[in-house]
Amino acid sequence: MSGGVPRHVAVIMDGNGRWARERGLPRHAGHLEGMKAVRETVAGACAAGVEVLTLFAFSTENWKRPKTEIQALMEVLDTFAESERHALIREGVEVRVLGELERLNERSRAAVSGIVASTRGGETLLLNLLISYGAREEIARAARNLARQARDGLIDPETIDPATFRTALYTGGLPDPDLLIRTSGEYRISNFMLWQLAYAEMYITPVYWPDFTREDLFAAILDYQRRERRFGRVAAH
Ligand code: FPP
Repeated sequence: MSGGVPRHVAVIMDGNGRWARERGLPRHAGHLEGMKAVRETVAGACAAGVEVLTLFAFSTENWKRPKTEIQALMEVLDTFAESERHALIREGVEVRVLGELERLNERSRAAVSGIVASTRGGETLLLNLLISYGAREEIARAARNLARQARDGLIDPETIDPATFRTALYTGGLPDPDLLIRTSGEYRISNFMLWQLAYAEMYITPVYWPDFTREDLFAAILDYQRRERRFGRVAAH
């Protein structure tokens, strides 16, 4: 059995829209409520001793949503960056924001740089927020960077192996996620960390993201601790 606390937990936060619809509220109310669940999950991850928490906040595909919803989601992210800053610093949470950030508007880019700069050096938890992120785009970008380095004679293409390739991903030298949580009962990866999730244990819960609490995170961790991780090998006896 895996036994310990997962070093890296990744979460596909899903179900904000359905949470809102079931209450007769607009979709953005679900995203706003989802911010509370982010707060809960960060606190739970700190308490459990998780080292890295990665949250899928906005995908490259989400750019295809109606303009008003995109704007509402960006506003929630800006609000989070502003309202949570002090709590995150106090808790020792270092925030990194990964994705095609050049697609964000100036205001959101400033909010992102602000939260990243002011939480730098936090030692309790590394919180990766994936914004304007898609795994295929991330992999293509890594390949592009390595190809450029090979073209410029900085690396020998023959030396590119999984270990060097991973360093070219947004997540660079971080450990791969041990546990992937998806809320709202959907069994999909949705272009999320396709490289890094190779051996992650998956935990799907029917709970909609805005209702997700630290107890739900602990339940996922307990379930993970009962799994036998073999990484393609046979079981140890
Ligand atoms: C999926 O629900 C969720 C999103 C597209 C956005 C996730 C964003 C948040 C939880 C906002 C707060 C985040 C941070 C980091 C402060 P959906 O809209 O696809 O729901 P549905 O499938 O029920 O329609």
